[in-house]
Amino acid sequence: PSPPLVFDAARLRHESNIPTQFIWPEEDKPCLEAEEIHVPVIDIHGFLSGTGPAAAETLEIIREACKKHGVFQVVNHGVDTGLVTEAYRCMDEFFGMPLTEKQRAQRKTGESYGYASSFTGRFSSNLPWKETFSFRHAADPDSAGHAEVEDYFVHVLGDSFRQIGRVFHEYCKEMNRLALEIMELLSMGLGVERTYFTDVYKVNDSVMRLNHYPPCQKPDLTLGTGPHCDPTSLTILHQDEVGGLQVFIDEKWHSVRPIRDAFVINIGDTLMALCNGIFKSCLHRAVVNSKTPRNSMAFFLCPTMEKVLSPPSELVDDEHPRKYPDFTWSQLLEFTQKHYRADTMTLNVFS
Ligand code: SIN
Ligand code: FE2
Repeated sequence: PSPPLVFDAARLRHESNIPTQFIWPEEDKPCLEAEEIHVPVIDIHGFLSGTGPAAAETLEIIREACKKHGVFQVVNHGVDTGLVTEAYRCMDEFFGMPLTEKQRAQRKTGESYGYASSFTGRFSSNLPWKETFSFRHAADPDSAGHAEVEDYFVHVLGDSFRQIGRVFHEYCKEMNRLALEIMELLSMGLGVERTYFTDVYKVNDSVMRLNHYPPCQKPDLTLGTGPHCDPTSLTILHQDEVGGLQVFIDEKWHSVRPIRDAFVINIGDTLMALCNGIFKSCLHRAVVNSKTPRNSMAFFLCPTMEKVLSPPSELVDDEHPRKYPDFTWSQLLEFTQKHYRADTMTLNVFS
């Protein structure tokens, strides 16, 4: 077998072609000029305490978006824009380092955290044109105060990364807060007990992933992230101003134009199962371009590994029988590692 390919973007840039592993099959070839889609933008400020017609209307927009395709955006979310800017600055610092420096945080086979590139993951056998850095953010309101992310950065990269670790720890804390608020909104949208999902997720085992997409000389042949549905519960994505996120809606790929102050919210497979299939998990991917590096940050809200997940009883009756059996996140993860196919979403295999 040939040695694993090292994704050294700085070096690959000088070649006129790209290695064949990065060339995706014809049916996956990106459409770089995909038509833009208007993904609903929800102002969530004060929404949770608000009532009245405006709140009801907002709820209806969210409901429709989640039932149809599982993606919407939020603004006025209370996350400090300075923190987002600072997080991007930290990303530039990390990904701007020479490859050997980044490899100090190398993710090992079978592990979920660390620096990775040239990996096929569960989404395809082709290589995505990107580098990532992933880390864990477990939350438990009863044992707050432990700076897990900061400690991780220091552990894998050394004490000079403490400040960067601190920034991402702060960022994750904000994402956790926002994710729980959105969960409350979603339970209202489903008409179930308002705390049903927040109770499931207030103690959680979430993941943060930083994505860096270097410019590519052949952006029409490759993908930054192949088509997939997130197996997780809820994804909060921020993309920088370059753009590249595409969603599959109405049988077509559409690009989602970045809005600086907005987060893109995706329903993942786990949440789709938890609401008995009413809200959909959204098929999406990311394309690259030949000129500008692109960064995005994804926070994946995940339940704790062994919590048994079942939908609220209000969502199950004779007309709406259970679509998925009870499962735990650790079972689903194990399953996706073996069987994930982007075109038949994970959970369909369960049913
Ligand atoms: C992803 O879905 O994993 C990445 C999406 C993006 O970078 O826009
Ligand atoms: Fe994703």
